[in-house]
Formats: sequence, C-alpha cells, structure tokens
Amino acid sequence: MARVVAAVLSEVRVKVLVVGSGGREHALCVALKRGPSVERVYCAPGNDGIAADATCAPEVSTSNLDGVVAYAKTMGVGLVVVGPEAPLVAGLADRLREAGIPCFGPGAEGARLEGSKAYCKQLMVRHNVPTAAYRTFTSVDDARAHVLAHDAFPLVVKADGLAAGKGVVVCATRDEALRAVAEAMEQRRFGDAGATVVIEEFLRGEEASVHAVTDGSTLVLLPPAQDYKRVRDADQGPNTGGMGAYSPVPSLPEKAMDAVVRSILVPMLHALKVEGVEYRGVLYAGLMLTRSGPKVVEFNCRFGDPETQVVLPRVRGDLAQLFLAAAQGRLGEVEGVDVDPRPVVGVVMASGGYPEAYTTGKAINGLDAASRLEDVTVYHAATRRRDGVLQTAGGRVLTVTASGADFAAARARAYEAVRLVGWEGEHHRSDVGVRAIEAAAAATK
Ligand code: AMP
Ligand code: GLY
Repeated sequence: MARVVAAVLSEVRVKVLVVGSGGREHALCVALKRGPSVERVYCAPGNDGIAADATCAPEVSTSNLDGVVAYAKTMGVGLVVVGPEAPLVAGLADRLREAGIPCFGPGAEGARLEGSKAYCKQLMVRHNVPTAAYRTFTSVDDARAHVLAHDAFPLVVKADGLAAGKGVVVCATRDEALRAVAEAMEQRRFGDAGATVVIEEFLRGEEASVHAVTDGSTLVLLPPAQDYKRVRDADQGPNTGGMGAYSPVPSLPEKAMDAVVRSILVPMLHALKVEGVEYRGVLYAGLMLTRSGPKVVEFNCRFGDPETQVVLPRVRGDLAQLFLAAAQGRLGEVEGVDVDPRPVVGVVMASGGYPEAYTTGKAINGLDAASRLEDVTVYHAATRRRDGVLQTAGGRVLTVTASGADFAAARARAYEAVRLVGWEGEHHRSDVGVRAIEAAAAATK
C-alpha cells in the first residue's frame, strides 16, 4: 500500500487536542506528535499513561461538550481530533466548528451513520452499497413474528443506537433470536438504544476494517486492519471492544481495496452528499469479505480501537496537516505520501474478568523493559499512577504493538513484549496475527 496518505507541510505550527482516553487516543497522540508542524498535543481527558506523550486534562470529560470547547479555546488549539463516537453523536464537532475551531470528526448528522444502524442501513440500501439484507422493527410483536417466520440461522439482532459495541447479537437459533429481541426491546438491556432493532442476514467471511480520511468530497485511504473481537483464542467467548489487531490485511490486497473504494466508500460519500451532510473526519467501514465480494457490516464515524494502534504507526507524513485539510474541506489539495510496508501486530492486555465485570487498581509490572524492546510501542488504554506506581484502571488496559520485517517477526516481537508485562488477573489472546501469517504465506504460494 504505497502512496496512500498525504500531507502538506505548513509553515504554521499547530496545537492539537485529541478528545478521549483510550488506546486509540494514545496512538493518535503519538502519531500526531511526530508531525513537524505540531507544536504540542493535548489530550482530554487522557490518562496517566498518555501523559508521557501529551498534556492531559483529566478534569475535562468527553460528555461535557462546553468543557471541551472551552478547553480548546483556552489552550489556543488549532485542530481537534475526536476519538470516541459518543461526543460526535452528541454534536461536539458542530459545537467546535461554531466556535471557529477546526475539528476532525463529523457533526451530529454525519455521526448518525454510527448512532443509528437503521438510518445507516437505509442509506446503504438507497445507494446500492452492498450490505446484509435486513429489516427494521419498532414493535416487539413484529420483530418476534419476523424471527418466528425465519428459517435461516444464524440471524443477527442489533440494537439501533449506541451500545458500546455490545448491542449486536449473532443468534445461532430461533430461541436465541427471540431472547435477543426481548432483551433489547422489552428489558431494554441497552436502554433506549434498543427501542428499535435491526434484524439482518448473517454474513460469512473474514472481517476487515478500512479507514478513509475524508472532507466529504475527497478520500484518502489508510492501510486496512483486522480486529479480533472475541475474548478468547480461536474466536471463542463473548465479543469485546477488540482484543488485538494487525495491519495490513493479506486477504485484502491493494486490488481488492480498489473494489472497496468503488463499490462502498465512494457511493457512501455520494449518499452523504445527497443527504446534505457535510462529513469531515474518518469514515470507518467494517467489512465482511464474502465470496460475492466485500459487504458492509457497519459504518463507524471515528477511528477503530484497537485498529488505530496498528494503522497509524504505519502512516508516514504529518498527520495533523492531513486531518486539518480534511477538517477544512481542502483534502483535494493534499498529495499522497507513503505507508510503511512493515506490518504491525497489536495485542490487547485486559483486566481479570473483562469483558464482564473486571478488577482494577492492580500494579502493572515490566512496562519499562517491554518499552525498551526495539520496534515495540505500548499504548495505554486505562492506566493511572498512584504513589508513583502505574495501575490498571479499566477493562482493556494496554495495547502492546510491534512492527517487523514480516508478520512472523512483528508477532514474535509483540508477544516478547507482552510476556514482560503483567499484573494480577491479566489476560490476553495468544493467537493475534496467526491468521495474517497463514494468509500471507498462502498469498505468496
Ligand atoms: P457491529 O457492532 O455491527 O460491527 O457488530 C459487531 C460484530 O458482530 C461484527 O464485527 C461481526 O463480527 C458481527 N456481525 C455483525 N453483523 C453481522 C452480520 N450481518 N453477519 C455476521 N456477523 C456480523
Ligand atoms: N474495533 C472495532 C471498533 O472500534 O468499532
């Protein structure tokens, strides 16, 4: 994947604010900081691990839109990059633009792509973007009748609104589907997000995540990644926010990316335009590579986590200038720069119990030794410092990443680092990157 990303070096130095506090935001801070035009990187709220790479503002919550705007103004920030979806859906980008601050991230209207699965599906179908066949239900009786009349399982039941990645249930049987409908619509397991559900066809294939930087008219593709969603090896156990990732994706070579651009990304940009939505930020396409071509599983309005931790280290050039050009609607002016061909593998280290109830406040050992390894970068998703000791402070705690000459080298180095780090109850997948090694070997046969 050469010449995928562009950068224009500006004479003007810019202060950048990253909004959020996870591994994705840490990776954004580290990647942005490398840009020659970047004077300083702030992160609100950030965490104690991110504080090594950015000026953090623990008092600024992502749900306090006024607070974020005020902080950006006070610090004289010239670009805001929003990590998570919730503040985008709530209209943070609109508020920043109203205040005259360039924001990399769509306004509330654009963020509806992720905020309402029913809206997103409707847009895809109207504009012939390939996706799973589906129906939307606002009545629990109708949803139930649909499941009862359905013969092909698995069937996928999705809460319409934001549910922190937990609103999707792949149902192997009719009973499971009936239960999923009842949990979402009657018991309101996901609150109002489940008042409407989308029930859709199950797609078979390998998944891939594609990020496109866009100003609504021009697209700049970032290298693709693959995410590991299940908690245990061999894709067993419940879904999580993501337990690991790698980039590039051997089963999505450059030629196949052309098809993704042509059949998915360009029609979606066109769809947004027709709807009157000015979309500036990342358009994230979660794809299933099916036998009949790539199909959309979901669109997100922001960077993936942990995909960002393996994608951005491969992107060369001044990211702040790329994001700023998108934020200001002049991405067409930007010329392509290169992507590092070396693969990156990232392993998420999680707290005991995650993704169910988990323990926190455990002292983390071995971080310095791991960070000293060549080609290794450790991103902090949820850490805090107490009495000088770094502790765990959430479910997903670290993403340990490594690059290498090939997937085998990157994977070996990442796990060498993982073995040096630990805390009570820590768990991680041990098979991240295996699939890539196999697929890369098959591709060269
Ligand atoms: P989503 O939040 O929509 O990305 O769904 C979470 C995960 O559920 C996806 O990454 C897939 O692994 C799985 N999934 C969602 N929709 C489908 C589908 N139509 N067919 C197969 N798997 C799906
Ligand atoms: N890792 C999947 C996501 O960020 O939605």
